Amino acid sequence: MPIDVPTLRKAFPTLARELDGQRLVYLDSAASSQTPVAVLDAMDHYYRWSRSNVHRGVYTLAEEATDLYETARTDLARFVDADPRGVVFTKNATEACNLMAYAWVRRNLGPGDVLLTTVMEHHANLVPFQYAAGDLGFEVRHVPITSDGLLDMDAAANLVADGRVRFVAVAHVSNVLGTINDVRGIAQLARAAREDAVVHVDGTQAVPQLPVSFRELGVDAYALTGHKMLGPTGIGALVVRPELLETMQPFLAGGEMIRDVTLDSVTWNEIPHRFEAGTPMIAEAAGLSAAIRFLEELGMDAVRAHEEQLTGRLLEALTSIDGVTVHGPTDLTVRGGAVSFEVAGVHPHDVGAMLSSKGVCVRVGHHCTKPLMRCLGVNATARASAYLYNDTDDLPPLVEGIEAARAFFAR
Ligand SMILES: Cc1ncc(COP(=O)(O)O)c(C=O)c1O
Repeated sequence: MPIDVPTLRKAFPTLARELDGQRLVYLDSAASSQTPVAVLDAMDHYYRWSRSNVHRGVYTLAEEATDLYETARTDLARFVDADPRGVVFTKNATEACNLMAYAWVRRNLGPGDVLLTTVMEHHANLVPFQYAAGDLGFEVRHVPITSDGLLDMDAAANLVADGRVRFVAVAHVSNVLGTINDVRGIAQLARAAREDAVVHVDGTQAVPQLPVSFRELGVDAYALTGHKMLGPTGIGALVVRPELLETMQPFLAGGEMIRDVTLDSVTWNEIPHRFEAGTPMIAEAAGLSAAIRFLEELGMDAVRAHEEQLTGRLLEALTSIDGVTVHGPTDLTVRGGAVSFEVAGVHPHDVGAMLSSKGVCVRVGHHCTKPLMRCLGVNATARASAYLYNDTDDLPPLVEGIEAARAFFAR
């Protein structure tokens, strides 16, 4: 069923705000989405009724808290079509990528090995691996992009051809270009050159807007974050093939992640608990469950259809403005909802400030993708990103704000 935006917006308290008497136009969901009441209620319910720690108590409150936390794990596993034993909760996607860097890459790669990544990665899916390469002496190669913002698959084939690529880190959807990458294709390329190549995907921008099946993608690990998919801040996850996770050693050590400890030895807990040291984010897990159920009720096919249609209108609106250049693919079937653009003669920060004065929230800056900014030949861009609660009513204020920025600032 198509999304009924006016009705849906009532579930999001922030969207009812006015800024200086103007309707709030929130076009920054690629940075962080808004939160529906159902998520706020789920977190509030935990704190008011079941407040206690998980996994440790035999009393009712502790059992309820444990149930909330473990239900979030099965909810997330169902949502991304994965095995709950492979779902490790982290505080965000950045920590999920670091977990992979510490628990797999740093223990397996060394001189002579190659890690393949791309020029369009968010720093979260690049810096942890670069850092490891600096310490361990393996090589990092980067898949370039084509002029229309797609990964250059011919170049990728060449980069894996010598069979030395043991690990691949690639975004499912770019937070700047919006490109939906063929991660399944990249995994196949890498494994054709080397059967045991491990493929790690940054799914942060994909999970909020596309139906995702971890099993069908055929990759080894998949990072995501709660706050971009209607959930709270402070929770994310690394989804890993359980067989691979079983072979991985812990990243953080302490309580919860052990089976037994003596004064001079330790054995690890079973997966996924082995990777969740200390008291976890219990309220946030309850909130994430509620967010997942909210998305499931709408249906991810409907979310994707809405996003695709609105992104088409957004692209049309932006390209109709004199002096505006849009980055990324124009083919909507390979594009997500983040649209980065430049306004000739106007600094992106001035575009953002003018839009803000009109109640329109967009992102400006390098979007934590400095290498990609260099490839595009810019220091920064403005980025508008629509989500399920946006509709075409949000576009005229965006266009008017950009035109006002041009009239005021363009030299
Ligand atoms: C593609 C991508 N990867 C990773 C991240 C990092 O997410 P978090 O800040 O929740 O760790 C972001 C956030 O903007 C992102 O867009």
